[in-house]
Amino acid sequence: MSDTRSITVELGERSYPIVIGNGLLRGGFDLSAHLGGPDCLVVTNETVEPLYLEPLLADLSGKQVRAIALPDGEAYKTLETVEDILDTLVEGGANRDTTLVALGGGVVGDITGFAAACYMRGVDFIQVPTTLLAQVDSSVGGKTGVNHASGKNLIGAFHQPRAVLIDTDTLQTLPDRELRAGLAEVIKYGAIVDAEFFAWIEDNLDALIGRDAGALAVAIRRSCELKAAIVADDERESGRRAILNFGHTFGHAIERCQGYGEWLHGEAVAAGMVMAAKLSGEDAAAAERIRKLLERAGLPTRPPAIAASDLLAAMGMDKKVRKKQLRFVLLRELGNAFVSSDYDAARLGAVLGAAN
Ligand code: NAD
Ligand code: GLY
Repeated sequence: MSDTRSITVELGERSYPIVIGNGLLRGGFDLSAHLGGPDCLVVTNETVEPLYLEPLLADLSGKQVRAIALPDGEAYKTLETVEDILDTLVEGGANRDTTLVALGGGVVGDITGFAAACYMRGVDFIQVPTTLLAQVDSSVGGKTGVNHASGKNLIGAFHQPRAVLIDTDTLQTLPDRELRAGLAEVIKYGAIVDAEFFAWIEDNLDALIGRDAGALAVAIRRSCELKAAIVADDERESGRRAILNFGHTFGHAIERCQGYGEWLHGEAVAAGMVMAAKLSGEDAAAAERIRKLLERAGLPTRPPAIAASDLLAAMGMDKKVRKKQLRFVLLRELGNAFVSSDYDAARLGAVLGAAN
């Protein structure tokens, strides 16, 4: 194990550490120290369980541990799955000092966090993210929830974890397509708040795709630093935090129209970021740099063949909608995003029409 770093998400008494390092699940971290009570329920899925449950259990020695493995996939990010977790908690006699541990990607993390928010009106949970996307985005910030047939992440709660434990070694078993989907969210941070980081990704993309441990560690650390600062500033998304949804209004609509699971979340966000950059219209050179970088990362840069009217209808369920008006995260320039309902309707039509 080497070079373990810790970043704090500053939220007063609910502040928590994001610990980033390699070998953390192989004895490099004492997870049990972060448990408030004597017992925990580890929630994972059928793919991650055989890879990482055993090492995680070793980090929980001395605690009473139960585990549940969910079926794998975005299609299972539902209230029914949350109910299965709640049933397991009830059957095991879990109390208010029981801790949930989410071991897996963003789907497991979002579901587990929501179950933790609901059980007995809220118990502690810890995030142990094992995908790049979850390590740079979904495990940090306390957004938890599940999908509804009418919209992505429509049912949920803000519930911050007690700690985030990122073992970068887990990325070595991640399928290539999933790694690239995670890179979409890394590129997002550069695009919305850090042009220098964006340029660094342009220079280091091949190393990132090649899973160079040093390059991945830098990308994860910088992404977590940027997200932690935004969340500390606006935990409940009353303002600035919404810029983290760059590309997501389009991306979520794509996922919704496809019925969840055809394109990966990061893939839908990639196409959505190109659409949002084009809708911004302010800086065509920035839009082109974003498109090119995503293309180099092997990500989609155009929406799939979905009717513009269907995408528009799906966007109506976006959580940023206010007074029935769509709001988009737009770019003034690379590294400078803002939220606005003042967009060019003709340009939106053209961006949506690019699907066909
Ligand atoms: P995922 O959770 O579906 O994981 C991707 C795949 O990788 C799954 O098949 C999983 O079983 C597998 N996997 C996980 N870790 C692995 C490993 N180390 N080795 C091999 N296989 C592994 O997808 P994701 O991209 O991690 O997360 C996407 C979800 O995150 C979406 O539901 C999205 O809405 C959500 N999300 C939430 C937030 C938030 O702030 N809460 C932010 C971004 C995305
Ligand atoms: N992924 C968007 C957010 O956490 O706000």
